[in-house]
Amino acid sequence: MAKEGVEKAEETEQMIEKEANKEPAEGGCGDGSHRLGDAQEMRAVVLTGFGGLNKLRLSRKPMPEPQDGELKIRVKACGLNFIDLMVRQGNIDNPPKTPLVPGFECSGIVEALGDSVKGYEIGDRVMAFVNYNAWAEVVCTPVEFVYKIPEDMSFPEAAAFPVHFVTAYVMLFEVANLREGMSVLVHSAGGGVGQAVAQLCSTIPNVTVFGTASTFKHEAIKDSVTHLFDRNADYVQEVKRISSEGVDIVLDCLCGDNTGKGLSLLKPLGTYILYGSSNMVTGETKSFFSFAKSWWQVEKVNPIKLYEENKVIAGFSLLNLLFKQGRAGLIRGVVDKLLALYNQKKIKPVVDSLWALEEVKEAMQRIHDRGNIGKLILDVEKTPTPLMANDSTETSEAGEEEEDHEGDSENKERTPFIQ
Ligand SMILES: NC(=O)c1ccc[n+]([C@@H]2O[C@H](COP(=O)([O-])OP(=O)(O)OC[C@H]3O[C@@H](n4cnc5c(N)ncnc54)[C@H](OP(=O)(O)O)[C@@H]3O)[C@@H](O)[C@H]2O)c1
Repeated sequence: MAKEGVEKAEETEQMIEKEANKEPAEGGCGDGSHRLGDAQEMRAVVLTGFGGLNKLRLSRKPMPEPQDGELKIRVKACGLNFIDLMVRQGNIDNPPKTPLVPGFECSGIVEALGDSVKGYEIGDRVMAFVNYNAWAEVVCTPVEFVYKIPEDMSFPEAAAFPVHFVTAYVMLFEVANLREGMSVLVHSAGGGVGQAVAQLCSTIPNVTVFGTASTFKHEAIKDSVTHLFDRNADYVQEVKRISSEGVDIVLDCLCGDNTGKGLSLLKPLGTYILYGSSNMVTGETKSFFSFAKSWWQVEKVNPIKLYEENKVIAGFSLLNLLFKQGRAGLIRGVVDKLLALYNQKKIKPVVDSLWALEEVKEAMQRIHDRGNIGKLILDVEKTPTPLMANDSTETSEAGEEEEDHEGDSENKERTPFIQ
């Protein structure tokens, strides 16, 4: 078994070398003037096309250099989010062209400053949002998306922070106006956003959190959520059994028929927020059937009904707010508040596991398998754990046909570093 592991590690190295001899893929930031083969290269995860796990490669790419207003960051850790699975599948609106380097957030050390950048110095420890390109050894991103991190915040924690905590904070406090004594329903309560929501709710007195999650997670997360239900349970009945009037806030990342269920659970003046469509992911590749089913099942809302029933319906997309709608200033204010809560030890990112860049496929498979509690992190300096026989995410060089790996969790033999 061990020998097979060594062979697989060598195979991965060869995969990198093979990629290094190819033309550089599109998608890096900077002027791209460095050619592959120069000393100025970096490693990055590249998505070669939309589809299954076999569309991911570790490649060498030209070293990016900061443009005016950008910071160059030597990356230590990157966040892996559910949206990255959807990007890989091409399961998002207006997907960008491939090849691309995935990833929307990272942490690391400032290595260079573009012209006109103020307030940062080389050597600063930072976390950042990146509009793609985060899963690389070096990243350039506009200064408006970069935040200094506290001394006692580790790089994995910092990479787990921006997307999940900012999303949770904006939904609870900017959109739904969470206050003392309210109640919140959150799906995927053991996941990255789910745990951030639970922690932020605990900063307000007397907030009741109803959560759904796979049952095996309940023991681990029971202290963060007031009432937990299995993800397949009839949660509408369960919530009404405990609180006949329903809840004040429904946070729905599933979509489909959960929209109607969520609306039916709202108390008068309650707020329903749609912020994801996890139900559309039913296998390793995009399923048009699941997409259509989810779309078809969404409750078609009549504003007159909302008026009569005193209900608020909202949507939230952090990436659109940041990268399309220019609200970086608002988000900086939110990050400041979140860092204050972190410094007061009221919130702390839950890191599920650390993975080397070479292990990105296994990391994504863990989310497909619903195995994570908290956030998965790509640790740029981690050495990959040798693969064992039967590994389910070995690179397929034979072709681009994807298999559906759903429910295939028994095969995985590479164990992550669990924090
Ligand atoms: N709108 C925004 O700005 C924004 C920002 C961040 C995240 N999101 C959304 O929030 C949701 C959670 O994101 P996250 O990054 O924190 O991920 P996450 O919750 O850690 O995602 C993994 C968990 O989701 C649950 N899940 C639900 N449907 C699933 C499916 N079809 N396949 C696999 N797992 C599924 C599983 O938990 P259980 O089995 O325990 O349910 C799984 O462990 C996603 O829908 C994401 O797109 C939205």
